[in-house]
Amino acid sequence: MVTDLDLALRNAVGLRKSNDIYVLTDDNSQKYCLPLVRQTLELADSHILCLPHGEEQKTLASVETIWQFLINQHATRRSLLLIVGGGVLTDMGGFAASTFKRGIPYVNIPTTLLAMVDAAQGGKTGFDYCGLKNEIGMFASPKDTIVYPPFLKTLPHEQLLSGYAEMLKHALIASPLELIHVLAFNLDDIDWEIFAELIQRSIDIKQYIVEQDTEETGLRKSLNFGHTVGHALEEYYLSHRPEPGNDRPAASPLTHGYAVMYGIVAELYLSVSKLSLPQQTLTQVAHFMTEHYGKPVCPCKDYSVLIDLMRHDKKNNSDSEINFSLLRQVGNCRIDQHCSEQEITEALDFLFNL
Ligand SMILES: NC(=O)c1ccc[n+]([C@@H]2O[C@H](COP(=O)([O-])OP(=O)(O)OC[C@H]3O[C@@H](n4cnc5c(N)ncnc54)[C@H](O)[C@@H]3O)[C@@H](O)[C@H]2O)c1
Ligand SMILES: [Zn+2]
Repeated sequence: MVTDLDLALRNAVGLRKSNDIYVLTDDNSQKYCLPLVRQTLELADSHILCLPHGEEQKTLASVETIWQFLINQHATRRSLLLIVGGGVLTDMGGFAASTFKRGIPYVNIPTTLLAMVDAAQGGKTGFDYCGLKNEIGMFASPKDTIVYPPFLKTLPHEQLLSGYAEMLKHALIASPLELIHVLAFNLDDIDWEIFAELIQRSIDIKQYIVEQDTEETGLRKSLNFGHTVGHALEEYYLSHRPEPGNDRPAASPLTHGYAVMYGIVAELYLSVSKLSLPQQTLTQVAHFMTEHYGKPVCPCKDYSVLIDLMRHDKKNNSDSEINFSLLRQVGNCRIDQHCSEQEITEALDFLFNL
């Protein structure tokens, strides 16, 4: 995390001239965050590509647009791509940079909470394909990631909550004390100093785990907690927009973090039933969810669609088993847990009937 954005940007760019700097952003980050970057970096001769915002843009077509932009503007292997935006851009831009001319350096400048604590950390890049989330991608680390919390001041509250779900996930897999801090933080009247500390600790948790297991063969799978159900919900909402329900938040399609929040509750239910996680944790987190995130809507008849989506999840080793990371206790995650359709159905029933 940086307090001096100017210094961090200058270090990241090094001796490169501005015409060797390529900037990828989206319309919102261009409007709200790029001016702060421009105050430091003389970007007059730089090449700026602004894409429309949104998960719907996380496609092969957008990746091609980035490659074509780099080709048309004569980028070389020494050029630097600065990615100023949320997780959609850091995922997609990181992939485009890492494959262009077999890889050019890129720097993440995350502007959403979700990207700061999660997407821009850990080197996973990619895009959605054939209706499946992040189906094509690779591990490719940025040269640097510059986390500057004041960017968050223009972020809509719903997007802040989206990132907060990943912070809650980090707390659940890290320690009971961190969970207390995250559940107690006042999201409706933010103390920015305390928030910056919470953000830094959340980044530390992710980085610690990623350092032990960069390519996700073991421990890193604990970061998938909440994501087996979460990703299925996210994909379901991308293709089956339910009728606007009374309780469903306005976002359509479901943001990644909202999907993860609902996935966390379903997977806490599975953790209670399969690994004897104390019920109290499920009760506390389910209450936090309904208070801040509302309730998701999905008719029973579509449970089979959700379970089918879980079957296609990248995290599975075979088509017949659905893989989960579940909690034995807060701070004690068990990876490679398999649940039956019956068990998953019960967890979905719990979630959708809260
Ligand atoms: N690579 C990973 O390890 C990883 C981890 C978690 C999530 N992800 C991915 O991240 C993506 C979600 O990221 P996201 O939630 O940042 O979504 P996003 O990039 O779509 O950003 C959310 C919205 O906020 C806007 N925005 C960004 N910064 C802003 C600012 N400072 N002020 C006002 N508006 C701003 C954006 O334009 C967009 O409309 C998903 O595609 C998910 O798969 C990746
Ligand atoms: Zn996530």
